[in-house]
Order: sequence, then structure tokens, then C-alpha cells
Amino acid sequence: MPELLPLRVAATVLVKTPGALLSGLWSVLKTIGGLTAISLWDIVLVLINTFTFKKKVGSVIPPGLPGHGGAWPAFVPPTSSDSRSPCPVLNAMANHGILPRNGRDINLDELAKKINQTCNIAPTFCKSVSTAIRDTFGRNIIDLGDLCSPNVIEHEASLTREDFYFQPDVTRPSVPLCKRLLALAKDRPTITPADLSHFSSIRRAESKANNPHFYMTTGHKFFGSANCAVLYEVFAGRVDDIEIMLLEERFRDGWEPRFVYHSTRSLQMLISLLRAGLEDEWA
Ligand code: HEM
Repeated sequence: MPELLPLRVAATVLVKTPGALLSGLWSVLKTIGGLTAISLWDIVLVLINTFTFKKKVGSVIPPGLPGHGGAWPAFVPPTSSDSRSPCPVLNAMANHGILPRNGRDINLDELAKKINQTCNIAPTFCKSVSTAIRDTFGRNIIDLGDLCSPNVIEHEASLTREDFYFQPDVTRPSVPLCKRLLALAKDRPTITPADLSHFSSIRRAESKANNPHFYMTTGHKFFGSANCAVLYEVFAGRVDDIEIMLLEERFRDGWEPRFVYHSTRSLQMLISLLRAGLEDEWA
């Protein structure tokens, strides 16, 4: 009886709708609850940072953890069967054995913890990033190579990788691009946030002009600026440290993270500053 089909469909929709509505509502509440908890946690971090002493040079990473006093576990370059990402820092962590050396089966909670310990980035920021990845991929375990999917988190106009259209293997740094980035410092020992904004604008304009598949969302632009912010903060813009990390995906012996503020709020301020420094079309 085909004429009854729409009625049957309507009945199914009516039966399913309350359940779907409830689960939608639950997921919205869970997201709001999670964001509120992270924001409150971050306020506590801001207060702790304001009223306590900064970490001492030489012991930014606590004793017993990889990198304490600048002593990093052995660097072993990846083999062809290892999984690697477009992120130089995650790759360096795997090359030093802080993440699994084969780059596979990484638990996202563990990843957030290791980034906090290795780069001294606020746990609130690490948690937000790992949650965003879990929501994107719909699972809690990833391989580094999963981050290579074009235009998901990986994006065009990177500062250290050619666009996927020109070089589908985005796990490898582009030496010419990295050298252009480092040359921004001219004869200074550091690159500045303004240099990073300027180079981001140049890269986005270049990609738009040359890449027939150019695609960039607001989310990609924000993530690009966030990468510049963590690069600047964790390495304090220091060319000697950044050069080894970008080109060899290795932490220099004796290097320790230089990020001292340790809250998502302070990082967000720098991201806004970097975005403000972009040429209008790219902000
Ligand atoms: C869970 C943590 C992290 C994830 C999932 C992640 C993921 C990524 C991805 C997918 C890219 C490629 C973006 C592109 O296409 O340009 C990237 C690039 C990058 N990431 Fe990470 N990353 C993480 C942590 C970090 C940390 C802690 C740093 C610290 C400095 C960092 C620094 C960078 C830099 C400098 C780039 C290169 C940006 C460019 O070439 O334009 N990342 N990251």
C-alpha cells in the first residue's frame, strides 16, 4: 500500500524525534558544561600564574620527565613505516620517543598530557585541542598520519609545508619555506609575532594565486594563527632552536620550553595580536 508510506515515515519521525531531540540537547549541554569547566580552570591558572613565581630556567620541565634540564631522550629519525603528521612538534616528540616512535595508536588524553609536559603549554589549551580532535575524528585514539587529511585540520598556505596540491606528502617540511620563515629574523636572534603575521599573509596570498584547489575556512585561518602563537611562545621566537625543530624535527640538546604564562587566556591574546597583524583580506 504505497499511499500509506508517507504516514509510516511520519510516524517513525514522530517516534524518533523526542529521542533525537534529547540526545541533541544532551550533547549541547555537555559541550557548554565542558567549555565552562575549562574556562573556570583557566581562570584558576591565571590566578596561580599571577601570584606565584615563574618556573626557573633549567627546571621548566619537572625532574623525572623527558627534557628536564634540556636532556631529551635519544633522537631517532622515522622509518618509512612510521606514521608522521604535518605538525613539526608532534613529529619531534615521536622522534624523541616522547610519543610512540611509530606515531601510531596515540590516546588523545595522553597526547594532551605529553604536550603540557613537553612544551609547558597550559593544560586547558591542550585539553581543548585534544577534545576538538576527538570531535573531528569521532574517536580517542589516532595515528599521527590521521592529521594529514587535507583540509580537515591540515590546511593550505602553511608556513612550513607546501600545499597538498603541490606536495601530497605533508609530513615533510619544505626546506625553502622553512628557510624563508627563519630569514624573517634578518640578523636578529629571534623572529617576532609581526614577522609571523606578515609571512602568513604572504603565504595565503601566494597559495590563492598559484593553487587552483585553494580552499581556506575561517577555522583554518584561526588554526594557522594559533600555530604561529604556540611556535612563538614555546620557542620564544629563537631562530637557533626553531631551525633545528623545523628542519630536523628534533629538540636541540639543552633546549627547554620558554612558555611562561601558562593559560589559554594569554595564548588567546597572542593569537588575536597575530590575527590583527594579518593583511585585511586574511584576518
Ligand atoms: C594536540 C596537539 C597538536 C595538534 C593536533 C597539532 C596539529 C597540527 C597540524 C594538523 C598541523 C598542520 C597545519 C597546517 O596544515 O599548516 C600543525 C602544524 C604546526 N604545529 Fe601543531 N599540533 C599540535 C601541537 C602543537 C604544539 C604543542 C606546537 C608547539 C609549538 C605546534 C606547532 C606547530 C607548528 C609550528 C606548525 C606548522 C604551521 C605551518 O606550517 O604553518 N603544534 N599542527
